[in-house]
Amino acid sequence: MSSGTMGTESMETILKIENLHVSFGAGENRARAVRGIDLDLRRGELHALVGESGSGKTVTSTCVMGLLPVPPAVIEAGSIIYKGEDILKYPEDRRRRTRGREIAMVFQEPGKYLNPALRVGEQIMEMLRLHLDMSAAEAENRAFEILETVGLGSSRRVLKSFPHELSGGMKQRVMIAIAICCDPSVLIADEPTTALDVTLQLQILKLIMQLRHKLDMGILFISHDLAVVHDIADRVSVIYAGRIVETGSRDAVFKDPRHPYTRMLLASVPDAAKRGTRLTVISGRVPDAQHLPPGCAFHPRCPLAEEKCKQTQPEMTDVGSERKAACFCLDKEWGV
Ligand SMILES: Nc1ncnc2c1ncn2[C@@H]1O[C@H](COP(=O)(O)OP(=O)(O)OP(=O)(O)O)[C@@H](O)[C@H]1O
Ligand SMILES: [Mg+2]
Repeated sequence: MSSGTMGTESMETILKIENLHVSFGAGENRARAVRGIDLDLRRGELHALVGESGSGKTVTSTCVMGLLPVPPAVIEAGSIIYKGEDILKYPEDRRRRTRGREIAMVFQEPGKYLNPALRVGEQIMEMLRLHLDMSAAEAENRAFEILETVGLGSSRRVLKSFPHELSGGMKQRVMIAIAICCDPSVLIADEPTTALDVTLQLQILKLIMQLRHKLDMGILFISHDLAVVHDIADRVSVIYAGRIVETGSRDAVFKDPRHPYTRMLLASVPDAAKRGTRLTVISGRVPDAQHLPPGCAFHPRCPLAEEKCKQTQPEMTDVGSERKAACFCLDKEWGV
């Protein structure tokens, strides 16, 4: 599978997350889940957001979708610019109209998000009628078309099925069908294949790749699996403890990772036989958002850390064309 990386620099930015800060709780219990994230997504590109468990990937993506429960979450600062406007400032009804119509999401566990009491066809039609004001007949035809697009077109049976009558792979295809049925410009896929076995995983990834080109969507692809990201991404951003620590084109990041965290992640990429393994090879773990270390949050696990790293948080700086990394020790010899 090849991502067919094209000159993404020239593409139009459709979504721009700027300085996003999200926390949970207050006072001593305040958990700083997202701490100043900047991220942009261009039309037609697949931008992967990679990081270990607990790093803030889902908080970021649900915030973009307007599905973050506020409270308990608090959006402390930042903006999410979609087509030139800050969606965080949209009134709730406009937010609802945007969700699914303009910005759609595919989740890790389709079973949780599909309505068990509604037939698949009805769920797709509901989405179409809500957003596109279609008649019942139009919506039914479109629902059938969209199921064909996601590889479920062989019979009308799927339209009449309840989610529990479908296999895991089929459910995931149905969720993708619901996500893309209104032709959104942005698709957020939060670990969409982790719950599937390897063969199904590849099929769903292929489908996402095809749809990206066919529908010219920007896809924010969230994953902890660098082998998958290497196969499909145009650009990669690496997140650690609620901050982006490195960003750049897929090729640049994989060939010449600059941040020690990215370097260690890549060194731990499992070979093809072990695809899908969780990133647990680096010793230690992402600090808890309630108890972040001072300075660079990665310093307790970093072999290059020096005194400054323990006190001051490094900012993202340019490390090449369209590449940034946040580390004081970028030029230090790599001794591990
Ligand atoms: N409702 C909540 N209340 C308190 N803390 C929360 C809540 N939701 C998330 N967090 C904290 O925010 C941080 C980021 O969580 P998030 O779910 O975004 O991680 P993630 O990168 O998606 O991890 P995973 O790979 O396991 O899905 C974690 O420290 C988590 O404990
Ligand atoms: Mg998550």
